[in-house]
Amino acid sequence: MRIRPANPNDVPAIAALISDYAQRAEVLPRSAEEIRETLPNWIVGEQAGQVLACGSLLHYTPRLAEVRSLVVRNGSKRQGRGSAIVTALIAEARRQEIPTLFALTRVVPFFQKHGFAVSEREAFPEKIWRDCQLCAIRDNCDETAVVLHLADINHSASSERSES
Ligand SMILES: CC(C)(COP(=O)(O)OP(=O)(O)OC[C@H]1O[C@@H](n2cnc3c(N)ncnc32)[C@H](O)[C@@H]1OP(=O)(O)O)[C@@H](O)C(=O)NCCC(=O)NCCS
Repeated sequence: MRIRPANPNDVPAIAALISDYAQRAEVLPRSAEEIRETLPNWIVGEQAGQVLACGSLLHYTPRLAEVRSLVVRNGSKRQGRGSAIVTALIAEARRQEIPTLFALTRVVPFFQKHGFAVSEREAFPEKIWRDCQLCAIRDNCDETAVVLHLADINHSASSERSES
């Protein structure tokens, strides 16, 4: 599977991929228009001309972004595709020098495998104000907040370099 930035031709495939999971309330719905407007933030995994996986970064502030709309096509899961997308999103966040990434998820072990730690939803008031306020199950949310502090990772990586 080839990981690459999304282009306008991918919008219908991304929308269909997300819609499949949004119908089962596994991710928030995203309209084709919304995807098109935020296209530079999207990454896709393509194989044999088909989009099998996607994910995006949603910027809240220059210091905080959410891993968003991370999905792998049904029938293609548990083959490292989600990992390839989240790894690319983390690399992109690093490139943009965003110090903190978070996600709200029901798949905590997946994110832990990529260095995220369980956090409190309340640590991300920006998310609560933007999305959770509108959610029908906000008082019974079964999603867990997970966070990855890239600034810490960058700092320890650079101190290791300067110590060696
Ligand atoms: C979550 C999702 C993106 C993971 O993608 P994937 O390609 O299936 O995952 P990977 O093969 O990269 O998994 C890597 C590791 O993460 C963990 N993992 C992945 N899916 C998991 C799950 N459902 N439950 C527990 N651990 C899981 C495992 O440790 C896995 O390694 P293993 O298969 O060797 O045990 C995918 O299952 C998906 O699209 N789910 C539906 C939408 C969704 O919930 N998206 C996340 C929104 S925050």
